[in-house]
Amino acid sequence: MTQKTSRISGFHKLSVSERIDQALAFAGLADSDLKALFLDTGNLPAERVDQLIENAVGTMNIPVGVATNLLIDGKDYLVPMATEESSVVAAVCNAARQCYDSGGFVTSMSGTRMIAQVQLVDVPDPGNARLSILERAEEIRAICDDCDPVLVRLGGGFRDLEVRIVDAPSGPMVVTHLIVDTRDAMGANAVNTMAEKLAPHIESWTGGRVYLRILSNLADRRLARARCVWKLDAIGGGAVRDGMIKAYEFALMDPYRAATHNKGIMNGVTAVVMATGNDTRAIEAGAHAYAARKGWYSSLTQWEVTRDGDLAGSLEMPMAVGLIGGATKLHPMARACLQIMDIQSAEQLSRVIAAVGLAQNFSALKALATEGIQKGHMSLHSQNIALMAGAQGDEIARVARRLVDLGTVRIDIAEAELKKLRDGGV
Ligand code: MEV
Repeated sequence: MTQKTSRISGFHKLSVSERIDQALAFAGLADSDLKALFLDTGNLPAERVDQLIENAVGTMNIPVGVATNLLIDGKDYLVPMATEESSVVAAVCNAARQCYDSGGFVTSMSGTRMIAQVQLVDVPDPGNARLSILERAEEIRAICDDCDPVLVRLGGGFRDLEVRIVDAPSGPMVVTHLIVDTRDAMGANAVNTMAEKLAPHIESWTGGRVYLRILSNLADRRLARARCVWKLDAIGGGAVRDGMIKAYEFALMDPYRAATHNKGIMNGVTAVVMATGNDTRAIEAGAHAYAARKGWYSSLTQWEVTRDGDLAGSLEMPMAVGLIGGATKLHPMARACLQIMDIQSAEQLSRVIAAVGLAQNFSALKALATEGIQKGHMSLHSQNIALMAGAQGDEIARVARRLVDLGTVRIDIAEAELKKLRDGGV
């Protein structure tokens, strides 16, 4: 028997249907139901799927839920969130409900500037090279702005220049930062083009050699901020507040806890980033790098007690999202989600996302500091487990309720309960 091989030349030239056939044949699955599943591309037209990525064979549908109760900067929002995790949307709705009457979320943004890095090596005199680059700020501005006249017309373009010397094991590197206002674009393409265009000039000014020319995902000139005060009455009193502060301090001081704390924030942030067709990995990378900016990994949020004894939460994190590139523009569902929120600018979207991240963190801390996360989580999760056990129609709710009553949400128990139900025993 010949060994099957993944070396398939010209796979990218095949049609989507032909690629599916090949992939199924490779797996030994000549199954028309599976082929139909791949061919069903849902709300993303098949030809769009093939345009967006290489070697496309289908789509992966993720539920989109709408978070309610969100009052952000005096405006009511319904926020679409794409997530496969139960409890995430409900957590935002709950947190937002508990601060709605006291005014909701206040947000702001430090700007829409991205950083591109140009790495210069083999420079014997890095101090001299650094100043030679800095002296040419105006020339650099002209080279960068020339790359993207449309961006300049829209009020963006080159803003600032920084040159750092990074001591690497093989010698010093001179790292130029181009700071560029990318307005409503996420900006990766714009700043990468500028960095590439500038590279030969930097080489000729310094005599060194340029290697990397790429944006930084640590977008710390593009910080989205959200803050909110939860009244003591609305959250259930001083003991709840104090427990939440203790939970926050745990994340502040301990990276093992901070990773989970920030993961909870990203449950909300990533869901909106995904629903709007933005780059989830860029946001995740920026968030975690920013969380470690002090030299140790810590909480992205801050929680305090106000003068009146209420609970104040704040979140500040990089938010490089856009409205005019890639899937944001091309995915009809991303456009629809932006329309539901009535988003007019990347800044507005960034601020809404920060509010959602803060709300998500509030709910996680509150649950953790009081009844524990499993109670709320498991009542929703129990429905998934009931489904996985094979429950259908109204069996799903009945098995799920039974699992919650038993206090054990496990697949084997769900299967047993489903069997009992079908045998007429429940
Ligand atoms: C689960 O997806 C997220 C939490 O673990 C977040 C947290 O612990 O803060 C509940």
